[in-house]
Amino acid sequence: MITISENIQLTPVLSTDAKFLFKLMKEIYPVAYSHFWTDKGDWYVNTQYSEENILKEISEENSDNYLVLFKDEIIGNFRIIWDEKLKGLTQEKQVKLHRIYLQQKTQGNGIGKKVLSWLEDKAKQKGYEVVWLDAMNEQPQAFQFYKKLGYKYHSHIILPFDLLYDAVRKMSQVYKEI
Ligand SMILES: CC(C)(COP(=O)(O)OP(=O)(O)OC[C@H]1O[C@@H](n2cnc3c(N)ncnc32)[C@H](O)[C@@H]1OP(=O)(O)O)[C@@H](O)C(=O)NCCC(=O)NCCS
Repeated sequence: MITISENIQLTPVLSTDAKFLFKLMKEIYPVAYSHFWTDKGDWYVNTQYSEENILKEISEENSDNYLVLFKDEIIGNFRIIWDEKLKGLTQEKQVKLHRIYLQQKTQGNGIGKKVLSWLEDKAKQKGYEVVWLDAMNEQPQAFQFYKKLGYKYHSHIILPFDLLYDAVRKMSQVYKEI
């Protein structure tokens, strides 16, 4: 267990948590992204958070996979990948924030900011120079959040998924020198 503040902790995702994580994301993801998808995001969640994929993710050596706790309740999920590089950035030591998702009822209370600040401090201590991530342009909450924390635009791609509406396909890579 990692303590970030009095009320916020991170605990590693274990293989026995796979079903729980799927259920949690079935709740969190559609609230923020169902309007992006013709099937309301079912395919994406079922694929991304299948037991098979979660087990694969937690077995990846360079990754840290966490559940986020607030006041002792699991309210989110946070994943980082050390040494995954963003094409076109020259820094040697880069870490990718793969995802952070918090339950809607806990959003806007500074939890995301504290978790990212913990990541940036930890990365800096380990000699890393850059944190980067992918953010969907048409999800203003997440996009504004990263902007506010000092992340800058680097590049973007247009996602090819069949079930994604055309208007929301743009995904930007943003980064911060730490
Ligand atoms: C995006 C997310 C991680 C942000 O975490 P959070 O705990 O809600 O955000 P915080 O309360 O820490 O906000 C930090 C700063 O961002 C700003 N911010 C947050 N949401 C914002 C919004 N919709 N518009 C403008 N600014 C926003 C806050 O005002 C705050 O600034 P301040 O410190 O000056 O007050 C969280 O809301 C979430 O999980 N959203 C849904 C899932 C998602 O989109 N995840 C990202 C996909 S990888």
